[in-house]
Amino acid sequence: MRYNPFRPNSIASSALFQGRKEEMMFIEQSLFQTKNGNPQHFLIEGERGLGKSSLFLMVENQATGQIPLQSSEKVNFLVINIELDSTQTFFEILKSIAADFKRALAERDKIKKLASGVWDFLSNWEILGVRYHRIDENLVQPYEILNALVVNFEKVIRLAEKEMDGILILIDEADRPGEKASLGELVKLLTEKLTKRGCDQVVIGMTGQPGLISKLRASHESSTRIFSSLTLKPLSDEENREVVLSGLEEANKVNKEQTFIDKDALELLSQLSEGYPHFLQEFAFKAFEQDVNNRICIEDVKNGAFGPFGALKQLGNKYFNDLYFTQIGSDEYRRVLQAMARFSDSWVNREMIKNEISIKETTLNNALQALKTRGIIVPNPAQPGEFRLPTKSFAAWIKAFYMLKEDPFIS
Ligand SMILES: Nc1ncnc2c1ncn2[C@@H]1O[C@H](COP(=O)(O)OP(=O)(O)O)[C@@H](O)[C@H]1O
Ligand SMILES: [Mg+2]
Repeated sequence: MRYNPFRPNSIASSALFQGRKEEMMFIEQSLFQTKNGNPQHFLIEGERGLGKSSLFLMVENQATGQIPLQSSEKVNFLVINIELDSTQTFFEILKSIAADFKRALAERDKIKKLASGVWDFLSNWEILGVRYHRIDENLVQPYEILNALVVNFEKVIRLAEKEMDGILILIDEADRPGEKASLGELVKLLTEKLTKRGCDQVVIGMTGQPGLISKLRASHESSTRIFSSLTLKPLSDEENREVVLSGLEEANKVNKEQTFIDKDALELLSQLSEGYPHFLQEFAFKAFEQDVNNRICIEDVKNGAFGPFGALKQLGNKYFNDLYFTQIGSDEYRRVLQAMARFSDSWVNREMIKNEISIKETTLNNALQALKTRGIIVPNPAQPGEFRLPTKSFAAWIKAFYMLKEDPFIS
């Protein structure tokens, strides 16, 4: 048995985490500005599996001073890090911010002692929460609670000024709450109230899937204006390779026998993943598992990708099977998707598809119609006759089958 360092199912550890230099620099700037009283709230959109939660964990570790910043600056924030879900209401989001505020304080003994009043407030809050929960939620005054939270943010920063630079509120999966949660309004009010109280050392960072910005805007027209935003991109080829190599380095610290990887195998892992960290972890995990002679070769990568427990199957089970297998009975339709995948998530018209595969006009028309109706492809609202795949990762997954010259619908 050997320790397998790759983690397809959990957030990247700092040893495995690679790339994201620009994004982290952007956030470092924001922390530095906040420390000096000019908070720059940030928002990051990215598809599933691109590494949003992993990035936020790194940011948390940096903001609390556990790992150094890229610049030589030092910061020391109290970090609230929450993950939202689709069932939460406005009130429940506030409650989970408060609960994590309490957890963060509990971990910082000096700050907790200096701001004992805040600790008491948060302890009572829980009782309050339970009580409120039992009664009709419409009767509680969520705005009062928001106010109370702001007052306590300000208090802790004032009382423990020497022990901290400010508060960072990280909100992961921010696209998930429904409309009734009014997250846009919540963050807008929160930042406004902080500003009014002159509490300018609290910064909010949010992340979620593409569409987050428009969702926030629907909740409150100007809520997105308080954020500087950026879109997470796939990792570069070089970063892909670094992820795999850093994984092997970790493994070689633990395992007696050292594991190496052939150059072409490393290359193939990078190509198959198309820079999606989640894909990369999955393919690398399976290739590592296949290897029997401590040298990962191209066959190990291929064998790890296929088979009933292979990486492609795993990724399919997690994300795509419903789109690709369950909803489509026709192999012809899947060929259309394969052709479209070569263009990633860009707009594609009939001619472009016909240049890729030979298909009868009527079959193609039927396929496009059926795929559109089932929400598997997206029609271009500005250009009739153009369609695209819903995400880059869906395209990357379909392409990975190809690259290995396998037929994806033989599952
Ligand atoms: N920068 C990175 N370097 C290496 N692996 C990463 C990186 N970012 C994410 N991962 C890995 O990719 C997978 C998905 O990451 P996660 O942070 O959960 O993505 P998201 O939150 O966007 O869905 C996990 O297996 C994680 O370990
Ligand atoms: Mg995540």
